[in-house]
Amino acid sequence: MKTIRVNSYDVVIDSGIMDKCGEMIKNVTKAQRFAVIADDNVAPLYMDRVTASLANEGLSGESFVFVHGEKSKCSETLQFIYSFLAAKHFTRTDCIIALGGGVTGDMAGYAAATYLRGIDLIQIPTSLLAQVDSSVGGKTAIDLPEGKNLVGAFKRPDLVLIDTDTLKTLPEHFFIDGMGEVVKYGMIKSAPLFDKLCGYDIESIKDVIDDIIYECVSIKRDVVEADEHEKGERALLNFGHTLGHSIEQYYHYTLSHGRAVAKGMELVTGIAEEHGLCEKGLGAKLAACLDRYRLRIDIEPSLSQLGGAVLNDKKRQGDDIGIVVCSEVGKSSVVKMPVETFLSYLG
Ligand code: GLY
Repeated sequence: MKTIRVNSYDVVIDSGIMDKCGEMIKNVTKAQRFAVIADDNVAPLYMDRVTASLANEGLSGESFVFVHGEKSKCSETLQFIYSFLAAKHFTRTDCIIALGGGVTGDMAGYAAATYLRGIDLIQIPTSLLAQVDSSVGGKTAIDLPEGKNLVGAFKRPDLVLIDTDTLKTLPEHFFIDGMGEVVKYGMIKSAPLFDKLCGYDIESIKDVIDDIIYECVSIKRDVVEADEHEKGERALLNFGHTLGHSIEQYYHYTLSHGRAVAKGMELVTGIAEEHGLCEKGLGAKLAACLDRYRLRIDIEPSLSQLGGAVLNDKKRQGDDIGIVVCSEVGKSSVVKMPVETFLSYLG
């Protein structure tokens, strides 16, 4: 078992901890009642194990299940969650458990941040993407029709439990998706991690995935502790996300986040190389690494077609936008430029 302390909470990484979650949760919250929120893919696999483990500790778990997919991360589903909590008389001393991938963590986290002005939150991420990124750091959100994650709040979880056994039941498609965020960590902060990734492929990386998750969460811990509310350094975690979110929006969220981010990283690195913002050959290095994890995809929209969505990007500050650029592997910075300049780079 490995534990990483992030601000005020622990991120615990181990295989098989799902069945011990009640015992671990009991140590971090006084709550007796838990709303366990999961989608209809994850609930059949893990809901009973979580509620059984809670019951073993004399705690009660009520399940709320919603239809899987990014389209559910919206105000309608959130309203159903609020109504469920109110109908079951959940109080300020109760707790939400987000059991699942990024969509579940973001939306259940936002419910915990806002219901009764905030109740306790436990994250049990079951996808690689949620384990290395979205469950850690306290960002919660829902999407609007106008864009992704446009309504949200910072809400620290009380505990993050990463059971790496869940990756054994994770469909390959989702595993590949999570690798997009893993490659991102190497690019922005860690040449040793990036080099390590270049020595494995989508099959062999599974043998060392616990260590990889630990490295990613450690990087995220350093970034989040330096800048929890994204006033500076944390923006580096958005490498590839500005264009990635535009790509996701273009495909109405039918293209997965990790693939869209991977494409966003490739595109922005191409632009950076063209405009002398990074070392020559960085795009090729990144492409070779993404290839190993089947993360190179062709997309329909041209760069200029992706520009419109950039105007709604959260990284925009007035007439300027901060674009995350890697100058070399492991070194990144936010390059602030007028939105017009960025749009002109898109052609
Ligand atoms: N996923 C980006 C962040 O947590 O800041």
